[in-house]
Formats: sequence, structure tokens, C-alpha cells
Amino acid sequence: MSELIRFGVSLPSDLLEKFDSLSEKKGGWNRSEAIRDLIRAELVRNQCEDPDEEVAGVLSLVYDHHVSGLAQKLTEMQHGDHDTIIAALHVHLDHHNCLEVLLLKGQAGNIRALADRLISVKGVKHGNLHLTSTGKDLP
Ligand code: NI
Repeated sequence: MSELIRFGVSLPSDLLEKFDSLSEKKGGWNRSEAIRDLIRAELVRNQCEDPDEEVAGVLSLVYDHHVSGLAQKLTEMQHGDHDTIIAALHVHLDHHNCLEVLLLKGQAGNIRALADRLISVKGVKHGNLHLTSTGKDLP
């Protein structure tokens, strides 16, 4: 772990009050932890916006497996990107609906493109992509 640096921060008192009351709600986030978390969140957000950066992702897809050819199509597409999809979980939510969760690792641009392709397949009811850091280069 690198050495800790202390520094002063100037901000409007009412902004700090709001921040402290939010920290209270979050279960006693102290100011230092809160600022570290916010800085990391911003670094990760920024990294995930760069299409060339390597990131990790979680893609969820909800679809009705009774839609003709849909499950097979999604499986074929996933085989086409097996290098990016590092794990897949399929849950049968009820008689019709399936939840598929794909864990992805690769360049942010490739992951977004793959997610867009899968989400836009006719019959997919809802898809959501969450990108995050691989943890590398994130102090
Ligand atoms: Ni299913």
C-alpha cells in the first residue's frame, strides 16, 4: 500500500453538511473513506468510458424462452464472443421468463458493443450492463 497523504479541502459549509448527513445515512462513512470512495468511483467511471481500457462487466438479460429461436440465437451469439464472456448463469425465473447473467472481461468498447447486440435481440425484454474496474491500476 502506498503512503497516506493528508490534504485540506475547502468547500461551502452547507455542502459539507449535506455530505455529512449522507455519510450518516450510509452507516457512518467517515470523510476520508467517503472521499476515497468517490475518487475511485470517478476513476472507474472514467476508465469505463474509454473504449480501449480493459474492464469487467456484468450483463443481465431477461427474456421469454418460448419466443421461437431466441434462446438458441442468444447462445450462438455468446459462443461467438466466448473470449469476452468469462462466466454465464442462467436462472429459470418462472414458466416463461429466464434471467441470464453474463460476466464479461475485455475492452470497454467491445463489451458495450456485445451488450448492445444481445440486448437488442428481438424478444429480450430487458437488459442491463454494469461496467466496473478489473481492480488493476486502482489503488
Ligand atoms: Ni430458463
